[in-house]
Amino acid sequence: NIEAKVDSVLALMRVNEKIGQLVQYSGGWDATGPSSSKGDQHKLDKLKKGEVGSMLNVSSVATIKETQRLVMEHSRLKIPLIFAFDVIHGYKTIFPIPLGESASWDLDIIKQSAAVAAKESAASGLNWTFAPMIDVSRDARWGRVMEGAGEDTYLNAQIGVARIKGFQGEDLSSVNTIAACAKHFAGYGFGEAGRDYNTVSIGEYELHNTILPPFKAAADAGVATFMNSFNDVDGIPATGHKGLQRDLLKEQWNWNGFVVSDWGSIGEMIAHGYAKDKKHAAQIALNAGSDMDMESYAYEAYLEDLLNEGKVTMSQLDDAVKRILRIKFELGLFDDPYKYCNEDREKTEVYSKENLDIARDVAKKSIVLLKNNNNVLPLSKNIKSIAVIGPMADDKNSPLGNWRGKGEYNSAVSLLEGIKAAANKNTKIYYEKGIDLTIPTVEAGKNQFLHPLKFNTEDNAGIKKAVEAAKKAEVVLLAIGEDAYQTGEGRSQTNIGFFGLQNELLDAIYKVNKNIVIVLSNGRPMDLSRVSKMVPSILECWHLGSQSGNAIADVVFGDYNPSGKLPISFPHSVGQEPLYYNQKNTGRPWNDKHVTYSGYQDAPKTALYPFGFGLSYTNFSYSNLKLSASEINLNQEIQASVTVTNTGKVVGEEVVQLYIRDLVASIVRPIKELKGFKKVVLEPGESKTISFTINNKTLQFYSVNKKWEVEPGDFNLWIGGDSTTKLKKSFKVVE
Ligand code: IFM
Repeated sequence: NIEAKVDSVLALMRVNEKIGQLVQYSGGWDATGPSSSKGDQHKLDKLKKGEVGSMLNVSSVATIKETQRLVMEHSRLKIPLIFAFDVIHGYKTIFPIPLGESASWDLDIIKQSAAVAAKESAASGLNWTFAPMIDVSRDARWGRVMEGAGEDTYLNAQIGVARIKGFQGEDLSSVNTIAACAKHFAGYGFGEAGRDYNTVSIGEYELHNTILPPFKAAADAGVATFMNSFNDVDGIPATGHKGLQRDLLKEQWNWNGFVVSDWGSIGEMIAHGYAKDKKHAAQIALNAGSDMDMESYAYEAYLEDLLNEGKVTMSQLDDAVKRILRIKFELGLFDDPYKYCNEDREKTEVYSKENLDIARDVAKKSIVLLKNNNNVLPLSKNIKSIAVIGPMADDKNSPLGNWRGKGEYNSAVSLLEGIKAAANKNTKIYYEKGIDLTIPTVEAGKNQFLHPLKFNTEDNAGIKKAVEAAKKAEVVLLAIGEDAYQTGEGRSQTNIGFFGLQNELLDAIYKVNKNIVIVLSNGRPMDLSRVSKMVPSILECWHLGSQSGNAIADVVFGDYNPSGKLPISFPHSVGQEPLYYNQKNTGRPWNDKHVTYSGYQDAPKTALYPFGFGLSYTNFSYSNLKLSASEINLNQEIQASVTVTNTGKVVGEEVVQLYIRDLVASIVRPIKELKGFKKVVLEPGESKTISFTINNKTLQFYSVNKKWEVEPGDFNLWIGGDSTTKLKKSFKVVE
């Protein structure tokens, strides 16, 4: 039905209108519409002619209505615009940054958080988010690790699909859902040395086995759009990569959504040295299957000439137009271009109490307890005194993280506010900031791209006061880590330690009170090697969003037992990066008696806090690992089961993780790979048997035959509470 409608619209379109559908502009204007600037006037003119397909960064019902009106009232065919925005971890109710939320390993709440984000954005007139980012990200130096699900392929696929389902729901035409975008296709997380936009030099097998599976899962889940990426993959810019976009995604995977370029990435092929000018770039991009041009102005300027010269074809243009029209039909925009523009819904459904409650629930489940010697946590509600200290202790901005949608500046619940609200009235709470992490500027905290990060390395006058507060308290909650804008796009770092005077603050407090809980705010794995030797307790709190302080208080006082597990390895040193658990063994794995083995002289080669790791206020034991068979053929399945017992005194949740190793294969396989997980709740003393099915899908990989297949041979299997688990069985696959 939709196909027939798409064809009927296409049949009416002139070439300029077809090209127009492939154009996406950014509009930073308000409800009065485009300004008198030259750039805005150009956009206005094109909108009225019906030569624009989509707008990004136009938000609010009033503004979207006005912009849509320009097309509806002036253009010949009145093809509605599709409005896009980076709704990455919430629209106005802000959820934990995606990396943090991924630490919940809870697909239901991840889906729910995306659904709330969709509901709020759709109620504000939007139709499309540029999320989820499903780039496997193994390098803590890369600022955008905050935006994905971390280092693992399987976890990225599972979480990516949960987010897509949350955004898109069952029906794209519902007024509560928006189109999702799987990005960045492909390889963006593998930029050399963690430097953003940097070249990606990986081989074909790594590309297929590690990077592409989350994208295949997204395509299979029916994601409406893909975004390509800024980087080159082994010499070919992703935006101009025909093999990836046209051959693999559209033909082999038979996916029928559309691909949007990243911002200016068509034009950037000139800087890459891959296109000689913008016209050439437009030719390469359309041939390669990039359907929509975000802010390169290349398609609008050159596609008509390229068509006339036979350098791109009408069928390529038609294919791109049809893909875009299809999504517009699915969203219901042809039925009513203003269907998402309802001021009442915008008032009632955005930032509602109900949404904030969900944000608190997601935030508390995203917290990871990294260390808890002497059961420092949870704090008793009868505790007499607490010192809440640090640059992030009463920070209402950083918890919103980067890519915070329409999250309002300083709108998060701070740690201090959360602790005060949850603590007993008789508990004395001493607050001191101690230091400023950054030197505030006019732009501070207001623009993710402009905020110049200048760290304070001189003004330590507040440390004395912080020391006095620490002296008086039974326990110190020390809120340190990273500013919201230390991670995100363009925020690569060579140092992943504590910037500014944070170490000085810790050292001064440590001298007077060792009972310290580090409440860590951050968007990437940090180097915790020094602090982890000093303090008894570390609570990984990421940037937790609008309800940050309340969620942390829930965990600090034991109203919620922490259940998060790291989705990315935390190293001993930045020199280990990129660090990930599913390494290959190498020909020289390790030998501590001889130096010519693969490791470091000055650091271990494994993580300080490994992938999948996280403590609880209770303990879990694993026993009775069983396989239903020790040998199967290629079409059979094995059930693996294990008994998990809560051996402690409080109820808790555990993420039970399944890992597999293919011992000998036609290409070298990782030493361990996550292949399943289940999050279970256990009462004190309770045991549960947890089972996983291992089948063809679990064991296959992209082999030397350049296809996904299982190779007969020996496999190891582990089940446990993190990626270092030793509980192991073996089995064999025969032909
Ligand atoms: O969606 C983003 C992308 O991830 C990075 N470049 C800009 C796009 C639109 O804002």
